[in-house]
Amino acid sequence: MKKKVLAALLSVAMVATLLAGCGSKEAPAEAPAETEAPAETEEPADADAEEPAESDAPAASGDFADKKVGVCIYQFSDNFMTLFRTELENYLISLGFAKENITIQDGQNDQGTQSNQIDAFINDKVDVLIINPVNSSSAETITDKVVGAGIPLVYINREPDESEEQRWADNNWDVTYVGCDARQSGTMQGEMIVDLGLEKVDLNGDGKVQYIMIEGDPENVDAKYRTEFSVKALTDAGWEVEQLDDQVGNWDQVKAQELVSNALGQHGEKIEVVFCNNDAMALGALQAIDTAGRKVGEDIFLVGVDALSEALENVINGTMTGTVFNDHISQSHSAADAAVNYLTGAGNEHYIGCDYVKVTTENAQEVLDSVK
Ligand code: GAL
Repeated sequence: MKKKVLAALLSVAMVATLLAGCGSKEAPAEAPAETEAPAETEEPADADAEEPAESDAPAASGDFADKKVGVCIYQFSDNFMTLFRTELENYLISLGFAKENITIQDGQNDQGTQSNQIDAFINDKVDVLIINPVNSSSAETITDKVVGAGIPLVYINREPDESEEQRWADNNWDVTYVGCDARQSGTMQGEMIVDLGLEKVDLNGDGKVQYIMIEGDPENVDAKYRTEFSVKALTDAGWEVEQLDDQVGNWDQVKAQELVSNALGQHGEKIEVVFCNNDAMALGALQAIDTAGRKVGEDIFLVGVDALSEALENVINGTMTGTVFNDHISQSHSAADAAVNYLTGAGNEHYIGCDYVKVTTENAQEVLDSVK
């Protein structure tokens, strides 16, 4: 699968993994060190030896053809989750699951709808559930229901809170979370701006960086941390910052275009940096920036997260300053491997982490080639 191709690329992330401990809940103190990657390397090493190693091979052998997998996605129209679910299904099939036994439901961004889907999966006696909750705060209710039905559960992408994860450990339940630490992605966004140098970014030369923030949905920990840690990277570098606007774009391109267009109308040339919590919104921001006659890299800077192909093209062309690779390939594989580990009885840790990768003009082509 694509994972092998990513090995060299992720070797940079491996450095961070070794430093920070993959799968640990610690906030990544440092972004991956900008060291020369070894030419050939295997998967990012897993510093936490207790965690099941990720691998292209099935996590365990066995015949999964008759096993039923229920997958709940918070919203099909989300670009990133579309990449995730497509890769998840393909990888499950490559592990020996039958396509007709993998059912993926669209929660349509409505917790009530998703809860009904979970009830239906329970009635259908699925063997394992993989859930991207609409509201992470509903995790407790979801867990109780699913565990009560004796079904192992893998949460993805939207992390339940600490006390909920603690319950899984305390009760030794077959429940885990697979995802990356959003603090790392926020930090990387900020660092890409810092790396340009204050002289370049402080276009009006007032000694401060004026920015606007376009957030995902407020309930989401990814949005919260990216918002906080992107700016923190600037202040940690000793930069003064001024927030001109902070709006909720709900991960959505069209909404972000509208918000950034309004902000540009209101604040005009004062805006030096546009932080978007994801690439879909950065693409919307770029449309607004174009319409306003501004030029990324010259009179404004723009960063996103996810490394959607279109965003990568823009980074290559210089029409986006940078993005952060949110590795849907390794995350979906880890989620499927975790499901397998429950089915075989091997079990899982209650948190399975991964690393983000900074993407600038330097490596955007490489990332694009690896995800194609
Ligand atoms: C984030 C991703 C966003 C959106 C969100 C949904 O990790 O960057 O684009 O998909 O998850 O929860």
